[in-house]
This record gives sequence, structure tokens and C-alpha cells, in this order.
Amino acid sequence: MSTATASPAATPETIESFTVTLMIRRFIPEIDTEPRWQDFDVELYATDRVLDALHKIKWEQDGSLSFRRSCAHGVCGSDAMRINGRNRLACKTLIKDLDITKPVYVEAIKGLPLEKDLIVDMEPFFESYREVQPFLIAGSKPKDGKERIQSVAERERFDDTTKCILCAACTSSCPVFWTDGQYFGPAAIVNAHRFIFDSRDDAGGVRLDILNDKEGVWRCRTTFNCSEACPRGIQVTQAIAEVKQAIMRGKA
Ligand code: SF4
Ligand code: F3S
Ligand code: FES
Repeated sequence: MSTATASPAATPETIESFTVTLMIRRFIPEIDTEPRWQDFDVELYATDRVLDALHKIKWEQDGSLSFRRSCAHGVCGSDAMRINGRNRLACKTLIKDLDITKPVYVEAIKGLPLEKDLIVDMEPFFESYREVQPFLIAGSKPKDGKERIQSVAERERFDDTTKCILCAACTSSCPVFWTDGQYFGPAAIVNAHRFIFDSRDDAGGVRLDILNDKEGVWRCRTTFNCSEACPRGIQVTQAIAEVKQAIMRGKA
């Protein structure tokens, strides 16, 4: 018979909750001419995420608060927002990792047209994404007529950039994109990289031509904001540098 004494199970009564103030930059086009800050006090646990706080506000205090979310687990990329001035996913940002002695500031990502509250128009972002042809273009026939064989090393070449979830945290943190919405932006370049360096793809040169443009990779000033913002840990600036080098070498 075991003599070990289990610690008392945590119950809602034993887990401490606290009040956190969220300052949310609101914009309701029907009533606001300019965005405005609104504060909300929310009862939260340390293990709650910012997304939980937004849900509590929406469900218990103000149903008009608008934001995008879907998976709630860092997969769909729909809830990128600026939290205390940094681009993050609300569903991956734990309350315990923020300084809650001060208000937590939450606002929409920058550089894209603001539609409502935390929602921006993502169309300019996806337009650049579509322009780099982010899909496999395999023109030639497989050598054995059946399969396009790829070695582990060849797959490794573009592994990092396969992780993109198209959240726009990188592009909307880039100062070049803020000042000039024409720049393709880091996310489009990351997704071009994913196919340019895929040994099965035959259209790397086409994508390099597209990015060797005045609004392409040469606009990047290597400020690293994109790499710091990426919730998937993709080495975005490194990927951009590799695309630049491929253009200079004249091939992928
Ligand atoms: Fe988001 Fe990272 Fe993809 Fe940029 S590269 S869109 S930050 S996942
Ligand atoms: Fe912008 Fe990233 Fe380059 S933040 S300037 S794309 S390194
Ligand atoms: Fe899907 Fe956050 S809700 S990534």
C-alpha cells in the first residue's frame, strides 16, 4: 500500500485570480472618426492568455469588441495584434508573462487598413503573398516517371520557411512596410523562399525575377523586427538574405 500523500488538488478556490486592466484601442467605423483607447478590468488567472481576456470582455462586458481568432492554439494565424507595443499572437501570450502591475495595451497590427477594433483589412498582405506564386510549380517530369524524390538535405534547405502560418506579424512590424505599403513584405518573401529552395520546384527563377523589383527584397533594411515578431520562430531576415544571395548568383 502506498504511503505517499498526494498534494491537495488545485481547485478554483485555491488558484489565485487577479484583476488586470486592458487598454484596448477601439475603432467602430459607425460611431468613431478616430481610434480611441478604452480600459477594461478583467478577472484573470496567470495561465490565461490575452485571447482569454478578450473573450471575457466580449462575453461579459462589451459584445461589440471585435477581433479575429479561430484555433486558439497558435496554428491559424488569425489573432496577431500589438500587445504592449510588440506584435504577438493573443492566443500564445500568457498573462503571467506580462507586467500586470500596469495596464496591458492591445491594438491592431500596423501598416494595414484598420477596419474595426483589432481587425485590419488583410487583403494587401495576401495580394503580395499571391504575387510570389506560393505553390509548387513542377514543370518537368519526375526522373523515374513516378515520384519527385527529395533527399533529407534538400528538404532541410527550406524547412524553416514551411512553418509560416500567414499571421502577418512580421510584415506589419516592418518599418519599410509602414512607410511604403508597396513593399512585398517579409511574409511574401518567406513564402517565396519556401518554393525557391524546393528541389522539386521549377519556377524559382520566376519568383526571383518577381522579387528582384524595386518593391522586392532590396527594400529590406535588415532591421530584424520581422524575425523578432514571428511567433513560429522563423529566421525571417535570414530567409530574405538567402533570396537576395540567390538573385545575385542568378539562380536558386
Ligand atoms: Fe507570421 Fe512568421 Fe509567417 Fe511572418 S513568417 S506571417 S510572422 S508565421
Ligand atoms: Fe523589414 Fe524584416 Fe527587412 S523588419 S526591413 S523585412 S529585416
Ligand atoms: Fe489561431 Fe491564435 S487563434 S493562431
